[in-house]
Amino acid sequence: MRQAGRYLPEYRAIKERSSFLEMTRDPAIAAEITLQPLRRFELDAAIIFSDIMTPLEALGIEIAFNPGPSIAHPLRTREAIDRLVLCNDIAPFVGDALRLVRAELPDRIALIGFAGAPLTLAAYLVEGGGSKDYEHFRQFLRADPAAMHALLEKLTDLTIAYLRMQIAAGAQIVQLFDSWAGLHDLRTYREFGVPYLTRIMSALTDSGAARILFAFGASHLLDAVAEIPAEAVGVDWRCDLAEVRARLPDRALQGNLDPAVLFGSRETIAARTREVLEQGLGGAHVFNLGHGIWPATPVDAVAQLVETVRTFERS
Ligand code: CP3
Repeated sequence: MRQAGRYLPEYRAIKERSSFLEMTRDPAIAAEITLQPLRRFELDAAIIFSDIMTPLEALGIEIAFNPGPSIAHPLRTREAIDRLVLCNDIAPFVGDALRLVRAELPDRIALIGFAGAPLTLAAYLVEGGGSKDYEHFRQFLRADPAAMHALLEKLTDLTIAYLRMQIAAGAQIVQLFDSWAGLHDLRTYREFGVPYLTRIMSALTDSGAARILFAFGASHLLDAVAEIPAEAVGVDWRCDLAEVRARLPDRALQGNLDPAVLFGSRETIAARTREVLEQGLGGAHVFNLGHGIWPATPVDAVAQLVETVRTFERS
């Protein structure tokens, strides 16, 4: 459940005292926020509190959050991309936070580290922030594909080093978030997405960590997703897990309840949750929401969701 904090009063209490940047950069605060949902619910995993944009400072890029990421100087020229140099120390405070969390967590609870997929990071970096159509990003990709590849290469090198650091610090699972995969057609995704995701995942083959690829809005890209090595694939709520299973028979699937269902009645929450669990039968399934949890989500609805998953009998 990404961006898990905001529906919890104890997260909002921390947010009143500190900015998002302080919260991600202070290992004690980041560890505390990571553990908050675990204190309330019987979950099987914790995801480290950070952001996909966090490691980009190691390339000399300035990022603000209000609340989505905002880039002071969007990258729109080959020269700006060529000037990016990777420094050795990539978000060391994330490693510190992972070590603090791992020390607190019982062995049976897995710790998830994560990073943004290069093409999604590039979308924010070229656009300058979130956007509906990412016009600047998609224009730049067509106008100067070589510069886009140069940027993706640098983001890939950064991501490999960053995820290796997280695994060394205690992450047993690493998840790549390709939140804007769905902007692209299959051919474009094969050219600008797949090679870099494959390079990252392949570099982690012997790391001992399980690899999850989450591609949002990507039901038209499953043939490309199938080409990328990963133990598990996460999908959004618009996919039918049984259909995804048929297309990706050898992967564990992660997902995919619509976060909006948590605003439904108790009956709706129970019925929709069981439906996802049933669609997930026939292979390994990591139950999750199909995207980040919404800030206004009632805490009781989450408790009911967890209870429904816990009592479901996989036959
Ligand atoms: O569950 C967790 O809390 C884990 C930590 C986490 C955050 N962001 C914290 C966060 C994770 C895994 C992410 C990933 C992330 N960040 C993604 C990929 C997942 C996805 O949602 O597709 C993306 C695209 C981002 C970029 C980003 N950061 C956006 C778009 C926003 C604004 C979100 C919104 O709805 O307004 C952020 C800010 C952010 N990252 C918040 C949190 C808790 C909100 C900060 C706040 O207002 O308290």
